[in-house]
Amino acid sequence: MTSLWSVRASEERYRKLIQYLPIPLLQVDAREIGGVFSELKLEGIADLGPHLDLHADLIDFANASVRITKANQAAVALFGADDAAALTGPVAKVFAASPETARRVMIARFKGQRTYAEVMKMRTLDGRLLDVRITITYPAPPERLDVTLICLEDLTDQRSTEYQLRQLQAEFARAARILTLGQLATSIAHEVNQPLSAIATNAETSLRWLSRDEPNLEKIGQLTARVAASAHHASEIVQRIRGTAAKHMPDRISLDLNDIVEEAMLFVGHDIETRAIELTLTSTPLPVVMGDRVQLQQVIVNLLVNSIQAIPNAGKIFVETELRPDTTVSLTIYDNGPGIPEEDIDRVFEGFFTTKDEGIGVGLAICQSIITAHGGDIAASNRPEGGACFRIWLPAASPMDLEAATAAAV
Ligand SMILES: Nc1ncnc2c1ncn2[C@@H]1O[C@H](COP(=O)(O)OP(=O)(O)OP(=O)(O)O)[C@@H](O)[C@H]1O
Ligand SMILES: [Mg+2]
Repeated sequence: MTSLWSVRASEERYRKLIQYLPIPLLQVDAREIGGVFSELKLEGIADLGPHLDLHADLIDFANASVRITKANQAAVALFGADDAAALTGPVAKVFAASPETARRVMIARFKGQRTYAEVMKMRTLDGRLLDVRITITYPAPPERLDVTLICLEDLTDQRSTEYQLRQLQAEFARAARILTLGQLATSIAHEVNQPLSAIATNAETSLRWLSRDEPNLEKIGQLTARVAASAHHASEIVQRIRGTAAKHMPDRISLDLNDIVEEAMLFVGHDIETRAIELTLTSTPLPVVMGDRVQLQQVIVNLLVNSIQAIPNAGKIFVETELRPDTTVSLTIYDNGPGIPEEDIDRVFEGFFTTKDEGIGVGLAICQSIITAHGGDIAASNRPEGGACFRIWLPAASPMDLEAATAAAV
């Protein structure tokens, strides 16, 4: 008696456990199709797949004969059913939206698998289409009780979150591409604007000199040479940007940084003169560096333009080149302007950081990306005497670099 009661009690516990388990569970009776499978095996059928190809009606038979006998509360809720009774009966309602799943479930059982799981679409009784993970546990042969359990897990939310994440990711990638394009366009505008405005001012000054009674031909000659140099510079920048866009590597040739400084100064010569700026150049003989001439010119021009914009008329700019004991070549540009507010110093290299009404804030970002691409470094600071100071370090070319450059030039 005691044992019978304990069996009853344990059954009751099991029943309650299933009933209130927060996972949708269906208990099904698949004995009839189990019998059909045994017969097929006796007839020598080892693989159910090909047999189902020929006898598709067997799938219909399974859908009708396998019957849901119990459904727990979570399953009732999942199906949007009124009660468990609405779910009992043929299992077909589980597989209606995914007929292929029913086929795979049958094949797994035929093979003697203990469980089978996959993600499928399922139509609920109130018409919603869900993504669910179906897990089926089949009874193993020695178990007399032929009870199959179907566990259904709603993945719809998870799926839609995944989908939204994928959408977001795609949008992000698109935004990043647009941003890069936007930045490219902005940097073209920024870099080409400088030589263009130099061309305009030099040409206008030239015209003024020409309109005098006694034109100063020497001066006009100088200005015209500057116009030509700026025009070349602009077209080289455009070519370089086109090269970058086409993912071409920048030129890497051996260069003397002192020459680059002098070339860069030509581009700002007009501003320096008209604003009576005192520019002091202190150069030390340097070993060559490997680099792209136009890009390095751009860096120096950007730094000079920033200083010119920061200082008053008759202000001072200092440019110094130096060889450091560790064979890095350094270039320092500083001015006697107001300097950079301490709170901005970490931000000046950020793209689009500007304190100027007319500024875009890409000059220093471009400088940094060029210098980094050359294996160097760039830093901003303020001098104790006042005024901003920008310093660039570039590695001196190694004998190996020079050999490679000579070989490439041949
Ligand atoms: N020599 C300097 N003295 C004082 N502040 C400077 C100096 N150089 C740069 N800055 C500060 O760094 C900011 C960023 O400079 P950056 O060259 O990147 O952009 P920008 O000059 O403002 O605009 P643009 O895109 O036209 O170059 C400037 O707006 C300015 O606040
Ligand atoms: Mg600038």
